[in-house]
Amino acid sequence: MTKTRILFVCLGNIIRSPLGEKLFEHVANEGGVGEKYEVDSAGTSAHHIGERPDERMRRTAQRRGFVYDGRARQVKAQDLDDFDLIIAMDLENLNNLRRLARTEEQAAKLHLMRSFDPDADGDMAVPDPWYGGPQGFDVAYDIIDRSVRGLLLALESGQLKVQ
Ligand code: 4NP
Repeated sequence: MTKTRILFVCLGNIIRSPLGEKLFEHVANEGGVGEKYEVDSAGTSAHHIGERPDERMRRTAQRRGFVYDGRARQVKAQDLDDFDLIIAMDLENLNNLRRLARTEEQAAKLHLMRSFDPDADGDMAVPDPWYGGPQGFDVAYDIIDRSVRGLLLALESGQLKVQ
């Protein structure tokens, strides 16, 4: 079986995208379809390469019973060939990815995370909690949790088709 390969992308690959990757994997496993997907995450910036996910987001996740880990890497042009879907956390990440895209096929793989959030209210960003207070991590967690569930539903229902 060919797996659907999904790459989650944010700026640093230490807060939003690693959580997106691991939560998607978790909800897919919970739904009994984990083996159909291969997931990874990356950052558009090189600032945090090799770092583990931000301690504040891991603590937020742990309070909800979700433990995860990983190491940051930077997105590369080859990712646009290697993955079927590339999910950007905000418009800035999406625009950076668009600049990397060389073909229509690559550009068609790019999506905004919140386009799968059933509660998105017009603000299509998963807000970056880096500079705000602790509540920003809870807000981002909730959005990411809803969005990965929405993404899985879109894929499993056939509403979102992968080329
Ligand atoms: P992320 O969050 O893009 O969700 O990993 C950030 C991580 C680092 C920085 C900003 C956002 N930073 O400014 O270093």
